[in-house]
Amino acid sequence: MLKVECVVFFAVMSCLEAAKLPSYIIPCSASDPNLNECGRKHAQDALPSVIKGDPKFKLPSLEPLKLPEIKITSGNLRVDLLNVIIKGFDNAQVKDMQIDLKNKHISLTVFIDKANLLSNYEISGNILILPIRGKGRSNITFAGGSYKYDFDYTLKDKHGDKYMIMKNNKLDFKTERSYFYFENLFGGDNQLGEQMNKFLNENWETVEQELGPAITQTMSTIITSSLNGIFDKVPFKDIILQPNPA
Ligand SMILES: *[C@@H]1O[C@H](CO)[C@@H](O)[C@H](O)[C@H]1NC(C)=O
Repeated sequence: MLKVECVVFFAVMSCLEAAKLPSYIIPCSASDPNLNECGRKHAQDALPSVIKGDPKFKLPSLEPLKLPEIKITSGNLRVDLLNVIIKGFDNAQVKDMQIDLKNKHISLTVFIDKANLLSNYEISGNILILPIRGKGRSNITFAGGSYKYDFDYTLKDKHGDKYMIMKNNKLDFKTERSYFYFENLFGGDNQLGEQMNKFLNENWETVEQELGPAITQTMSTIITSSLNGIFDKVPFKDIILQPNPA
């Protein structure tokens, strides 16, 4: 069983006054016959502004994204990533968006050619069959990553308007390749350390399955809190323009 524990520093939005969408997010119309493509394009267009961050909507800066800690426990492997810096969002491409108004379901697929995560690490336990331990600098790279975030929503009345309440959100991902480098493994034993790094990269798919979900879970928490920041403040009719306002 994979146990995921995330530590992030984002306050939950609590202000209740209605707001407009940030100017860089252009809404689509519910009656648009190409609603999915409209959503995809507007998400892509908003990206350069979104990654700069927006304190008004509690959007964190993504150039780079800084996280204090990601803790990973998988089987009897424990990994602690500290002072994490994640880069690569500036090259993100929004590949697909599906807006299903009838079933109240939205999905967004983003491709990131190279997502790079640099941090301090502490690792102990077993990976595959081998014991591993160490403490130092680490470098994790996901190459050719496809990230699909999707969620259901309900509409809730608040102050005479309808607002989106997100539920069942999840983030799935797959990569073409990933790379791992842990400096200073085994108390600085260079030969053992190099062998282990070689082994990790030869078995990158398995290592990715052990380490990846906790990392994307952390990302998912940030995306969710950012979207909730918008959904809490902006009435649904201003996010998806309704032809006949009720
Ligand atoms: C991290 O690893 C990637 C892939 O091996 C490499 O391209 C990059 O230069 C490394 N970054 C640092 C800071 O070592």
